[in-house]
Amino acid sequence: MAGDKLWGGRFNAPTDTFVEEFNASIDVDARMYGEDIAGSRAHARMLGRQGILSDDDVKQILQGLNDIEADIEAGRIDFTVALEDVHMNIEARLTERIGDAGKRLHTARSRNDQVTTDTRLFLRRRCDEVSERIVTLQRVLVQLARTHADTIMPGFTHLQTAQPVTFGHHLLAYVEMLSRDAGRFADAQARMNRCPLGSAALAGTTFPVDRAFTAQTLGFDGPCNNSLDAVSDRDFVLELLSACAICGVHLSRFSEELILWMSAQFRFIDLPDAFCTGSSIMPQKKNPDMPELVRGKAGGMIGGLVAMLCTVKALPLAYNKDMQEDKRAVFDGFDQLQDCLRIFAEMLPGMQVNHDAMHAAAASGFSTATDLADALVRAGVPFRDAHDIVGRSVAWCIENNMELHRMDASTCAAIDVRLTVEMVGKLSVENCVAARNHIGGTAPEQVRLQCDNWNKQLEAHDA
Ligand code: ARG
Repeated sequence: MAGDKLWGGRFNAPTDTFVEEFNASIDVDARMYGEDIAGSRAHARMLGRQGILSDDDVKQILQGLNDIEADIEAGRIDFTVALEDVHMNIEARLTERIGDAGKRLHTARSRNDQVTTDTRLFLRRRCDEVSERIVTLQRVLVQLARTHADTIMPGFTHLQTAQPVTFGHHLLAYVEMLSRDAGRFADAQARMNRCPLGSAALAGTTFPVDRAFTAQTLGFDGPCNNSLDAVSDRDFVLELLSACAICGVHLSRFSEELILWMSAQFRFIDLPDAFCTGSSIMPQKKNPDMPELVRGKAGGMIGGLVAMLCTVKALPLAYNKDMQEDKRAVFDGFDQLQDCLRIFAEMLPGMQVNHDAMHAAAASGFSTATDLADALVRAGVPFRDAHDIVGRSVAWCIENNMELHRMDASTCAAIDVRLTVEMVGKLSVENCVAARNHIGGTAPEQVRLQCDNWNKQLEAHDA
């Protein structure tokens, strides 16, 4: 046998040292040690129940795994690239401690079903963690939305002033996005929750395994139905990376807005000093680095998704070593996303909101024009005519450096006899937002109702 490899039997020469490093995944998969040990415990117990291993072997294996887990947690075990991955590092340690019983653990199992079991268990936990972070951020946003139910800002389309909206309404838009993001993680989590163990290398095993028992012990909804699919499926990695990327993109859009709003040109908000940095040359600078980084990291999450789609697209069934790259991509996606969610939840409560600048911006740019057209429609003018009348009013105002609500009776009459000074007199950003008082509308009353709804839903999450 060449060297000390667990698979060294058919080899005559030792592995090249750089190949050993290049081949290893321990730097990435060491994080799954808890899941690897849990999987081995369930597998060993199943082997015992089925009479495949003796009770004494199982007892030794379970004791050995407990000891190894405690040692890893206490930092007493150094993993080594010579043993390639977390699976073989732990198995080798076990055998070192308990001898032959350790060597029997891998009966009716392959690293191919082992690795994907561990990865599913690990990612199942990460889904729970990321959902917690999403809910935490949602709570922060709902609280802010309530505070700003009456704060008026310009709503934009094409980044041009469109209609006034309430800042609370704007913030709640992100609460909606985040709730769909959480839904995507939950959906993917439910779909991937089947146990590959028992599929062995690819075809199943010659031993009388009880796959239902192993699956149940590990909290899966049942065993995977097809051994080839079980060991080669990486859909769950793709789905989760996609969920990370989409949530990352939502935070990136939000970041983009914060960055714009904090600029001297908008002056809508100021982010807390603790979340900004200065310039090494320009003493006046206070830069929104945190939202910029979140926006930047969304690129990495999208990259991870694209990388894995490309990796999987040409792989024949079943296991191929290319798949080892999946963990780096998906672990990184979760790490980055969780950090981004955390930064947002911690940064936003300290945000200063400049009501005056928001209000002034909302009131400029003829943002009440649609409401004037609506007033004409209520007086019996067909909408297309109303649109034209208001369009001409805006043109007149631009020409004469005037605002719509200040036009006098003779100006109105000159533009169109159906346009009255009473109609223009009622135009205000307050009236605009208050008038949109229906489900999904921007009115302060609706924002408060939506905050109540969200609070109930987010409380239910705790229960
Ligand atoms: N470290 C490997 C991975 O992450 C484990 C599976 C290896 N299987 C194999 N047949 N070489 O994919």
